[in-house]
Amino acid sequence: MNITSDVKYIGVNDRKKDLFEGQYRVPNGIAYNSYLIIDEKIAVMDTVDADFKDEWLAKLDFALDGRVPDYLVVHHMEPDHSANIVSLVNKYPTVKIVSSAKSFSMMKSFFGTDFKESQLVVGEGDTLCLGKHTLKFITAPMVHWPEVIVSYDSCDKILFSADGFGKFGALDCDEDWACEARRYYIGIVGKYGAQVQALLKKASTLDIKIICPLHGPVLKENLSYYIGLYNTWSSYTPEERGVTIAYTSVYGNTKKAVLLLEKKLKEMGLEKIAVNDLARCDMAEAVEDAFRYSTLVLATTTYNADIFPFMREFINHLNERNFKNRRVAFIENGSWAPVATKIMRSMLEGAKDISYIGTSVRICSALDSSSSLKLDALAREIIDGL
Ligand code: FEO
Repeated sequence: MNITSDVKYIGVNDRKKDLFEGQYRVPNGIAYNSYLIIDEKIAVMDTVDADFKDEWLAKLDFALDGRVPDYLVVHHMEPDHSANIVSLVNKYPTVKIVSSAKSFSMMKSFFGTDFKESQLVVGEGDTLCLGKHTLKFITAPMVHWPEVIVSYDSCDKILFSADGFGKFGALDCDEDWACEARRYYIGIVGKYGAQVQALLKKASTLDIKIICPLHGPVLKENLSYYIGLYNTWSSYTPEERGVTIAYTSVYGNTKKAVLLLEKKLKEMGLEKIAVNDLARCDMAEAVEDAFRYSTLVLATTTYNADIFPFMREFINHLNERNFKNRRVAFIENGSWAPVATKIMRSMLEGAKDISYIGTSVRICSALDSSSSLKLDALAREIIDGL
């Protein structure tokens, strides 16, 4: 696949991975993208996951058409991209490895060598001339690891964006970009909004026509849409005025209250609503929804003088990713000594710019007329504040 006349795609689709990075479900697989810039000098842009060594080397060999690569640019040392550095060096021993200083020290820990003889260390603003194409390197620490760099090819106006603008899903699946890109972003990079904002600021000075990420499709059109979404996500701005209800239910009574609240909200005209049973849903989808919408309702039971474990895990995921700038409401259920709301609220204590909805619903075992009325009040307050 040609990205431009000089830039070829040599990545692979992984349809077998059960959990990406050990935790994210990828029902439509994942792509490990690698590119080749063919000029007077030839640069390989990143490698792929270890399981795809032979397929990748064969694609590289075909695209090289008898030539030998001069450079391997390593934007990110995480093994989904860097696992085949050694196999490339073994096959092409004259190749120079171009990467950040931090990346070379990581190579030492991953491979037992930092390729001292082949190193070309680059930092902020450094350039590498290939002929017509010159790559300019931009540091992007913590997007998603500390050693990350991105590069800009001023000839074809391509940003090689590392994990930035990545997406779950193999390239041969036809699906909406934003949904799986959002789940990817919030899950993997969500904690590092400030660092993504810093990278977007640097990128805004470049004339970018194509974005080549390390996962997901190459972006060639309507780039302001993708960059706009990244700006929204990384600034922790709710993407849409809407409601996520995240709940757990032991015997179905909390679920009944949640479904009743959902019904009431819909009757009041709310269209943007996501309801997630945290014991059964994909946790990363529920976390994504919480960041997507402006209002979050948490509903759970008191359990062992604490809260139900899936809710604890969910709130931990939110906190890990700097959940902030949202409205939050609580529904608790307890047959004796209910403490769930108190605990959920205390877990969110460190979250910034959270406004709590005044109406809090307490269910004693099952909905009754009093807690149903409270649900009415909660629905009204949610809608009034949207
Ligand atoms: Fe795609 Fe952070 O590795």
